[in-house]
Amino acid sequence: MQAVTVVPGAAGSAKLDDVGEPALELGSVLVETLAVGVCGTDAEIVSGNYGWAPPGEERLILGHESLGRVIDPGVTGLAVGEHVVGIVRRPDRVPCPNCAVGEWDMCSNGGYTERGIKQVHGFMAERCRIEPDYLVRVDKRLGILAVLLEPTTVVAKAWEQIYAIGQRTFWDPNTVLVTGAGPIGLLAALIGVQLGMDVHVLDRATTGPKPALVRQLGASYHTGTVSDLGISPDIVLECTGALPVILQAADAVAPGGIVCLTGIGPATTAPANRPAGLTNTAVLKNLVIFGSVNANRRHYYRAAKVLAKADRSWLEQLVTRRVLPDAVDDALAKRSDDIKVVLEFGQP
Ligand code: BGC
Repeated sequence: MQAVTVVPGAAGSAKLDDVGEPALELGSVLVETLAVGVCGTDAEIVSGNYGWAPPGEERLILGHESLGRVIDPGVTGLAVGEHVVGIVRRPDRVPCPNCAVGEWDMCSNGGYTERGIKQVHGFMAERCRIEPDYLVRVDKRLGILAVLLEPTTVVAKAWEQIYAIGQRTFWDPNTVLVTGAGPIGLLAALIGVQLGMDVHVLDRATTGPKPALVRQLGASYHTGTVSDLGISPDIVLECTGALPVILQAADAVAPGGIVCLTGIGPATTAPANRPAGLTNTAVLKNLVIFGSVNANRRHYYRAAKVLAKADRSWLEQLVTRRVLPDAVDDALAKRSDDIKVVLEFGQP
């Protein structure tokens, strides 16, 4: 069968490859892949900066934002033809306390594995196998849009963490700033609106689909710097990974505020006085600045509810390009108007 593979650590090594059928050890449920989303993490892996092949192998099958149709359900209660999404992370084998209770997204020893990212093959293949405990059924009526489930889980977790942290004190948040209007930022804004918040989204783009997508949500779209905005948000969802934006977010957020970092970016150098400045800002304003990654099964449930509640035509606009697997290079080459590029392996 054909699959998109990459040699982790080797820039430009991604290609559509001939590989063997998926190994049974990857799971008893056999799935025909319909679509796989391309995300920033895939770009990092393809550029040689991230990712790990399975032990003893050179190449990794890429792809962690999946949507597939069950071909062989094995002994599960699944039916042939059901649509499913694979969970990305697997608990470490020790397991650490968090993995032991199903919170692998909070793995505390780093021994977790991730499909298409860390030591386990991913979903950019004509067929995949998934363990019954690590897939979720999705509503067929979502069609290809169910490929947005995985990125939505990442922000569902971030929001859950924000709410958990908010309980440290009396907390009545109203204003949210989302920095970066990529898929993660837009889905974070969607949840903010669903929670009844006054949502502001900041991005560099002045043209393309982003401004309209934000306005259609009922949120406000801004360009420029965080400092220019003149708002004092209770919550910042930082989705750029850019240090200058993070530092400005800490300055702008209201006292008692929460800054959630979801983006990873290049290690840039900050002006020498800034870390000290950040310390004073964080202490004197009782800030929580924290990172959030990945998602556990609970977040897949929450994310499915978010997508079910969202306006379908809005979700459709997030998928800006559908590309066939043999044009994978084209799919991986970012265009300025891209939001979510999807590799189409089959028809939902
Ligand atoms: C994925 C997460 C994963 C993270 C780090 C993200 O793109 O959505 O599931 O944990 O990358 O590898």
